Amino acid sequence: MDDARAVMTGIGSCLPPDVVSNDELSRSLDTSHEWIHSRTGISRRHVVKPGVSTGDLATAAGAAALESAGRRACDLVLLATTTPDQPCPATAPQVAARLGCAGVPAFDLSAVCSGFVYGLETASALIRSGLYGSVLLIGAETYSTIVDPTDRNTAVLFGDGAGAVVLERGEAGTPGAVLHTRLGSDGTEAGLIAVPGGGSRAPRPDPHGPPSYFRMEGKEVYARAVSTMTRSAREVAEEAGWRPQDVDAFVGHQANARILRAVARRLGLPAERVVCHMGEVGNTAAASIPLALGWAASRGTLTAGDRVLLTAFGGGLTWGSAAMTWPGALRPVTAVEPAPPAV
Ligand code: UT7
Repeated sequence: MDDARAVMTGIGSCLPPDVVSNDELSRSLDTSHEWIHSRTGISRRHVVKPGVSTGDLATAAGAAALESAGRRACDLVLLATTTPDQPCPATAPQVAARLGCAGVPAFDLSAVCSGFVYGLETASALIRSGLYGSVLLIGAETYSTIVDPTDRNTAVLFGDGAGAVVLERGEAGTPGAVLHTRLGSDGTEAGLIAVPGGGSRAPRPDPHGPPSYFRMEGKEVYARAVSTMTRSAREVAEEAGWRPQDVDAFVGHQANARILRAVARRLGLPAERVVCHMGEVGNTAAASIPLALGWAASRGTLTAGDRVLLTAFGGGLTWGSAAMTWPGALRPVTAVEPAPPAV
């Protein structure tokens, strides 16, 4: 059991084809490409067409990850998302059914931007315990359905997309092994990132009042993200027996390039080892780390056995980090956005 680990054997992604540039946003909002890019590193983001859901993107990314792993199915489907298809039921069972995995356990996991790392620890623990031999872990989001298009504080930051990985039982020495993970939360600061209405506390916002959109206290979140991600990433690297400066690739939650560079500086990591994918896709919350991993893999910059440090921070507040090695011969697969299922 001690040497048993979850090993990444497949990776897939799905980005909707429609792209919105910073210049396009600045036609309807009081903003500019210069402001958005210099403050965040974001140049453009992908958005779904009306009617396309998180579950649609998750299904496409999940199928791509299964293909990448050379598998037809997995023992468990886990979907990390803040933007499920509906409040009830969970989206994961429908995704599993559409992937031909009906019958296997499937559930949603809600940890906002830390959702993928929360899912990685959950999947790893279930695999290490021997309960499941393989897990399909998907991070998928459609933030375009919850951000206020008239709010320049949030509308310019987010994008839609899905990334997925297949994890299978292996050993710590196998390239692709998830070696250590560590999670945390602080619910006293839940108000910093929230969609205030639509849950049991405020079930039915006044239909004549303002809609309940995603809100974020960006400046407060920025400061906490830098200090918490630095601490969390350092802890997990040390648990893996690594010096942070020896990490080959640092893949943080893709909210803001300035945040990732600040964390890397504090860890003593050279800037060129920081994976920055947000320029092309914006902040895709639970999808951001698997999308960044797939992007880095498709550029061929990672080689088997490389030390990869993941870290995330987001609503809840939640955070988490993971130390893993890079798998050998991993073939990333990208999917096109599927049509919504016929009703
Ligand atoms: O995904 C979960 C985790 N999320 C994060 O980690 C995000 C953390 N926060 C951030 O990335 C940054 O705080 C932001 C990108 C959200 C904002 O960057 P900032 O450098 O912290 O800007 P700021 O909040 O200090 O705002 C500076 C100014 C303000 O104007 P005043 O008050 O100085 O007059 C804002 O009103 O920029 C203004 N502003 C904008 N201006 C042009 C805010 N949004 C925009 C905009 N275009 N889109």
